[in-house]
Amino acid sequence: MKIGIDIQVVREFMHMEKIFSLYEIDYIKKKGINQPQTATGIYCAKEAFFKALGTGILHSKLPQIEVLHDEHGMPYYKIKDIKLFNQLISETKTPDSVRQSMPVIPTLALSISHTGDLAVAVCVMTWK
Ligand SMILES: CC(C)(COP(=O)(O)OP(=O)(O)OC[C@H]1O[C@@H](n2cnc3c(N)ncnc32)[C@H](O)[C@@H]1OP(=O)(O)O)[C@@H](O)C(=O)NCCC(=O)NCCS
Repeated sequence: MKIGIDIQVVREFMHMEKIFSLYEIDYIKKKGINQPQTATGIYCAKEAFFKALGTGILHSKLPQIEVLHDEHGMPYYKIKDIKLFNQLISETKTPDSVRQSMPVIPTLALSISHTGDLAVAVCVMTWK
């Protein structure tokens, strides 16, 4: 199991398409005056993912680490391209002993919170 956490000051994002997927941009735009909080929370989720993975943040891959929401609003990760995930895994500093038990995509869990001018997200990554 690995964990990643990120906290950010709530802000507005320029060039959203370089960070967020089309789904995420649509979701954020529906949030009215809470758009900066929601966008920053999703951004935290992306950084938390990279922290859990151990690569450090890979800015060019941000839109592909997608945060969706279930029917209750609970956020979850969708990694669009399995090849991308395997590529990221191969770039990590994950110990060989752990990497050998990573033939399949790990299960990812995500929680996001924001209040006032702060947003935070936690990513938990587990392998069977
Ligand atoms: C979900 C809930 C815990 C959020 O708590 P909060 O203190 O209001 O808000 P926080 O800042 O801590 O968290 C907000 C984030 O929680 C996440 N979230 C929303 N619904 C969630 C849920 N059901 N489960 C887990 N996380 C949820 C989202 O990422 C949300 O951010 P966003 O609105 O920018 O997308 C609270 O609103 C609640 O208890 N809602 C009722 C539970 C529920 O399932 N409602 C849906 C009924 S169909």
